[in-house]
Amino acid sequence: MGSTKRVCDCDCIRMIRPNILSLDKFRTERSETGHVPHTFLADLNENAMGPSLAPESMLWACQEVAMPTALFANDPWQEREAFSRYPDLNHVELKQAFCDFRNQRNGALEPLEPSNICVSSGLDDMIDLIVRCMCRPGQDRILICPPVYHMYQTSATINDIETVAIPLDSHNRFQLRLPEIQKTLRSDPSIKICFVCNPGNPTGFGIPVRDIQTLLDDPVWQGILVVDEAYIDFASTTQSVIGLVNRYPRLVVLQTLSKAFGLASIRVGFGVACAHLCAVLNNVKKPYSVSSQSIAVAKAALTEQSLALLRVKLRSICEERTRLARALGRIRGIAIRGGMDTNFVLFEVCRLGSASGEVSGRPCNVSAAGLVSLLRESAGILVRFKGMEYGCEGCVRVSVGNGEENERFVEQVRLLMQFLERAM
Ligand SMILES: Cc1ncc(COP(=O)(O)O)c(C=O)c1O
Repeated sequence: MGSTKRVCDCDCIRMIRPNILSLDKFRTERSETGHVPHTFLADLNENAMGPSLAPESMLWACQEVAMPTALFANDPWQEREAFSRYPDLNHVELKQAFCDFRNQRNGALEPLEPSNICVSSGLDDMIDLIVRCMCRPGQDRILICPPVYHMYQTSATINDIETVAIPLDSHNRFQLRLPEIQKTLRSDPSIKICFVCNPGNPTGFGIPVRDIQTLLDDPVWQGILVVDEAYIDFASTTQSVIGLVNRYPRLVVLQTLSKAFGLASIRVGFGVACAHLCAVLNNVKKPYSVSSQSIAVAKAALTEQSLALLRVKLRSICEERTRLARALGRIRGIAIRGGMDTNFVLFEVCRLGSASGEVSGRPCNVSAAGLVSLLRESAGILVRFKGMEYGCEGCVRVSVGNGEENERFVEQVRLLMQFLERAM
């Protein structure tokens, strides 16, 4: 067989927009190691207790998309119906089930209706959709408050939108610096969106509802306030503002099934806003971006039986979070840095091995990065190094696992901290 030499003179690269070329590759501990078996995946804040799906609801979901018969009975008609048809466009039943759940849980001031909901393929998709709808490439801007979830800036860069950053107050539980934010928003009409992550990732702290209302009530700034509530069901010190969307037409609330519901793989997120804004989001969204199978599972997750399971699992994650944070805080050289409003804990690693044999009280990126790689290499435990983010010197983020995983994690951290202290 003759060999064919593939030639690439990289002319194609010249065609790529400079803002796209400037993007860093998205990396996590997991993307570095690939899909090798790990003992504890604690880098992406998935739900360690698994999905809250009642068996009878799941059975009904499979039947709805014709899955069992299509797969096991080799029935061509079922197979065609299950896989060949485009998904339903409007997702009205899913939207209604989601509204019922939130209306009862949040005692919404004005009840949500399906016209308030836009369903997306996870929140990452929704963030991009909102940026595309509101901001003109090369002209408009967004405002973020670091340290914060990276996708707001990534979506802005992809869409050739500049990002303005007003960091959170790292000396005060990573809260919003409202005077600076308001001053910036008022003085720059090109800022079309302000993103607030509540509770914060990676901070783990909630933002009080009154601070969000202060931004919504701003008499000068007329942009869109996006409140990302991906972790709201784990929160103990803050509340959802989802019930305010019909009162504030410039508010968009983001929620997902990836975290509390334990359904990260099905990729279902919700953008919640007043009906006018929502209609625009629904018009721009790609029509078939959420599969029939995902919609069926999402509906199964919102039945009364599944929601009863959800409440039990949420309680046990919150208990595990407290236990994990307490145990970590007792380890020499470790201090808890983040809040208790999410399904992860942000902790800092202090400088180890000082000449006097003492652990210095100062957070240290070298020690933190060392701990993260030792955890991966010697124990198969994946956590996220956060030391390069604003106000997070020496920080590591660990997702809450089940009881066994957390105990093993704490034990490994204790041993590795002793090892690092001797080695450094
Ligand atoms: C704050 C925040 N928002 C949104 C997302 C994305 O959620 P989804 O899985 O729905 O895309 C994440 C994922 O980690 C997150 O941490």
